[in-house]
Amino acid sequence: MSRSELLSVDPTEQSLEKINGTFAGHDILSLDQFDRTSLDKVFARTQSVKETLEQDGLHPQTLQGNIVTLLFYEPSSRTRGSFDAATKRMGGNTIVVENPQQFSSAAKGESFKDTIRTFENYSDVIVLRHPQTGSAQIAADAAKIPIINAGDGGSGEHPTQALLDLFTIREKRTSLENMTGVVAGDLVNGRTVKSLIRGLALYPGNTLYLLSPEQLKLSRDDLNDFTKRGIKLIEIGREDEIPQNADFWYWTRVQKERFSNPNEYETLKNSFVLTRELLNRYGGENTIIMHPLPRVEEISEDVDDDSRAVYLRSQMKNGMYVRMALLGLVLGKKI
Ligand code: NCD
Repeated sequence: MSRSELLSVDPTEQSLEKINGTFAGHDILSLDQFDRTSLDKVFARTQSVKETLEQDGLHPQTLQGNIVTLLFYEPSSRTRGSFDAATKRMGGNTIVVENPQQFSSAAKGESFKDTIRTFENYSDVIVLRHPQTGSAQIAADAAKIPIINAGDGGSGEHPTQALLDLFTIREKRTSLENMTGVVAGDLVNGRTVKSLIRGLALYPGNTLYLLSPEQLKLSRDDLNDFTKRGIKLIEIGREDEIPQNADFWYWTRVQKERFSNPNEYETLKNSFVLTRELLNRYGGENTIIMHPLPRVEEISEDVDDDSRAVYLRSQMKNGMYVRMALLGLVLGKKI
């Protein structure tokens, strides 16, 4: 990003609007906006979207006449693709702006807020991905239409990913309470884990083993903040500390683009590789293997065909169902 595009924001100063079960017109910026009732609403709607699509192959065209802008300042396959598919499967349309710093008027020096205000005029929702933590809040402050955060920076959040991750755990393990999970990889730079932990902390009895090299541990601020919520977080640094028979393993990529020193990335990138052997050693019959994707080399391909590996199958597909549900809710549609 050029200097002129850098945004000034202190996310800690912002107060988040709670959803309290009413989604219409709301921004979706953080898992901190959700309580269990609001999550239940998303899960119930997602379940019904999923059943409708799987049974009939079609969903009622409840977004007909609606336009969703997908404004992506960072690369994306699944998040952008699934929001696009979600909108179109419900009869809506999208404006897709990939790489706006190059292909929108931002390249001519337009400010971020003006870009947001522009697409506010043309669409009903803006789905935003941006490299800077806090950018989604800035957009929400600038626009009257709902902003959905599709990932803001490395220490920010990715709430819709957490919704699909929670839905998948609940679907495969039948509950979100009393779960034991292993969360591995780049915990300091990965935003998906920060939203997921916030979500799991809303349910009692959850324990997460956080497996990462020293340099990629959660920030101490995040660790303290999450621990205060009552979730049990156990930091581990060796494979032999992985508990037997966890309910789920959530592996993540080391976030190359967040490193200023490429050598450090090279040293750390394959610290923990999930192989079939590792899975056989510590996994249980019902341990599900999750990954937000993209996977680089941290899960070996011979794990892909294991029936416990959901990352290329149901976890990914649930992403589209959850986003269909959420768009319907945010736009105030009955189904
Ligand atoms: C993630 C992201 O962008 O934070 N991707 C995704 O949306 N599933 C994870 C990643 O990039 O590693």
